Amino acid sequence: MTLDPSVIRKDFPIFDRTIRDGKKLVYLDSGATSQKPNSVIDAESDFYRNHNAAAHRGAHQLAEEATGAIESAREVVANFLGGETDEIVFTKSSTEALNLLAYSIGNAPMGNLFHLKPGDEIVVSEMEHHANLIPWQQLAKRTGTVMKWFEVNETGRLDLSNIEGVITERTKIVALTHQSNVLGTIIPLSEIAKRTHAVGAIFILDACQSVPHMPVNVKALDVDFLVFSGHKTVGPTGIGVLWGRANLLNHLPPFLFGGSMIETVTMTDATWAPAPRKFEAGVPNMAQIVGLEAALNYLSDIGMENIHQHEIALTKYTLDKLQEIDQLRIVGPTDTNSRGSAISFTLGQIHPHDLGQFLDSAGIAVRTGHHCAWPLTRKMGVPATTRASLYLYNDESDIDALVAATLGAQKYFA
Ligand code: ALA
Repeated sequence: MTLDPSVIRKDFPIFDRTIRDGKKLVYLDSGATSQKPNSVIDAESDFYRNHNAAAHRGAHQLAEEATGAIESAREVVANFLGGETDEIVFTKSSTEALNLLAYSIGNAPMGNLFHLKPGDEIVVSEMEHHANLIPWQQLAKRTGTVMKWFEVNETGRLDLSNIEGVITERTKIVALTHQSNVLGTIIPLSEIAKRTHAVGAIFILDACQSVPHMPVNVKALDVDFLVFSGHKTVGPTGIGVLWGRANLLNHLPPFLFGGSMIETVTMTDATWAPAPRKFEAGVPNMAQIVGLEAALNYLSDIGMENIHQHEIALTKYTLDKLQEIDQLRIVGPTDTNSRGSAISFTLGQIHPHDLGQFLDSAGIAVRTGHHCAWPLTRKMGVPATTRASLYLYNDESDIDALVAATLGAQKYFA
């Protein structure tokens, strides 16, 4: 182990409580949302207690402090991703960030770099979360563009055998998840980025399941836009991030209109502030932005590479232990090669919802269902799965508890 989860857990007050009549909390649902360290909770609270005012508005000291706090957070996010400060747009969630892109692209007039015309193509994959699928479906319907996708094979990997037939000269957008929230699969980015750019399309990366877990550098990844969410990154809910290349953000029309995103306004027209402000209409989620800064600082202090190595080791331990259980099927890659720590499985004929409930009675929090990736579960031939998703505060004792309770469920439902 490169880090000590028992020490890390002390930073997270939720692990002081017990659940279900005094049982230890075994939290294996960080793919849905992560727990929060004291430093994040304190940063949000400190903002409301000591600095609360509307950022970018007002000429008083508190407004100045609030503005400074937001802009300092923007710098921290930019450094965390290896991007530039004016390339960071704050949204309320990664779902909103993806919708922002889809709507903004849909707003692009003829002659604009992003303008779509009937017959243009948008490429996704069968392993997309609904948040990176439905906005593109809706955009395709509005613009007469065509949806295409990479299929997923039985081992849970993207089938890239026909990459040139999927990404073609007609492709304008390629929008893919970096790491599947169901299978844990990490996709081979460089090959896809190369092909995407060779045909002049833009590459949008849903990094919700990768940014919290491994070092991510937008320049090294060679993508054009990237989104992630605060609440999966030990940060607050209500805050998401859109990173985009500065030259692209400058061409992209805005999506939400209102206060503080303008340059000039008359009774009949308006012009826009430069990016990122033109995408941040309305008073921002300030306390959450400040909380996100604390979250990224917390993760950076531990080290993203340490977190990544810890998760690889724990994922291997989990996969090995789970596969010893009779009739348990891992839905997704069974080794740690290009794989993250979301581990989905089925157990004989036991319905995942029943299993989830049984595990909960033992103090173990997992997610069950189609995990907002319904086409994927259908493709994998299962109605639903049980998913354990790991993070920096989990260790082998959590996995041992999961394995023991899963064996218990097998007996109970026999
Ligand atoms: N996208 C989140 C998950 O996978 C909510 O659970």
